[in-house]
Amino acid sequence: MALYDGFYALRESPFSLSPDPRFVFLSRQHREALAGLLYAICDAKGFALLSGEVGTGKTTLVHTLLTHLGDRVCSAVAFNPGMSRRGLYQHLLAEFRLPPESSVLDAMRALHMFLLAQLAAGRRVVVVIDEAHALSRELLEEIRLLTNFETSRAKLLQVLLVGQPELVEQLQRSEMRQLRQRVALRFQLKAFDFAETIRYVRSRLARAGRTDELFTPRAYAALYRFSGGLPRVINVLCDNALLTGFARDQPEIDHGLIQRAAQDLCLSPQRRLGLWQRVRIRHYMEHNGHPLESLREISLPPLEFSR
Ligand SMILES: Nc1ncnc2c1ncn2[C@@H]1O[C@H](COP(=O)(O)OP(=O)(O)O)[C@@H](O)[C@H]1O
Ligand SMILES: [Mg+2]
Repeated sequence: MALYDGFYALRESPFSLSPDPRFVFLSRQHREALAGLLYAICDAKGFALLSGEVGTGKTTLVHTLLTHLGDRVCSAVAFNPGMSRRGLYQHLLAEFRLPPESSVLDAMRALHMFLLAQLAAGRRVVVVIDEAHALSRELLEEIRLLTNFETSRAKLLQVLLVGQPELVEQLQRSEMRQLRQRVALRFQLKAFDFAETIRYVRSRLARAGRTDELFTPRAYAALYRFSGGLPRVINVLCDNALLTGFARDQPEIDHGLIQRAAQDLCLSPQRRLGLWQRVRIRHYMEHNGHPLESLREISLPPLEFSR
């Protein structure tokens, strides 16, 4: 709960920084990436890669994916890039609720048995490696070897590498070509454009219980300028602006509040809006005004596994 929730007629805090799938807003690129990752897992493609700058929503998208996959998929998430080879296997065993093994070899055997049992039960097994850009080459190589678990027809283990754009650069190096060639599908998340920024904010507010407009058009313009359309920065700015708005007893969030929040956070404008863009923004605000649009349910394709 935030202090301002009641004042702004919110049931819960709209701009928390946790990757909560209940609050997910899917722009077109998010939708495409999500559908693509679902396909990669359902079709047992082996490796898939999701990249994007800090705060573009990679971890949130992965959590949404795993929630959507439900109990037909067993998943393990690793987000500690500094771990050792042995640490990686211990972590995977623990995530799959398997007893610990004393050697890497025994851990690999146990994992293999587990994967075969899951295949027989009709379940996919997914390992998500978050923050993969920070992995050592040695660990990346070990992760590549994980997809050697296979039958003659399919990969037993699906690996999703998630990381900042440096990860893509790392894979471009010639010594990484074995791993690069195994990456069957790649997706990249970018910052929101202006229209998406508005829909994102409205969608989070609506999830938190506020469906009528809270921000002025100029507040949205300032928000886009200072955040560059990055969801994490949008959240921090909005949270600050709402807190100050509450303290000043302001029922509406205007551009002054966003500017003040940006100043407090030492943010400088990321996007410069020219005259033409401002005209377009105004046009957008006048013609796409209904906050309830963002409440539309997210529908994803049903899961179909190929064997
Ligand atoms: N598509 C989205 N829908 C809702 N919230 C999002 C979305 N993308 C990002 N966020 C919010 O922005 C913050 C940063 O997202 P995160 O997934 O941690 O980014 P990354 O992993 O790319 O650094 C999260 O706290 C989350 O609340
Ligand atoms: Mg992340």
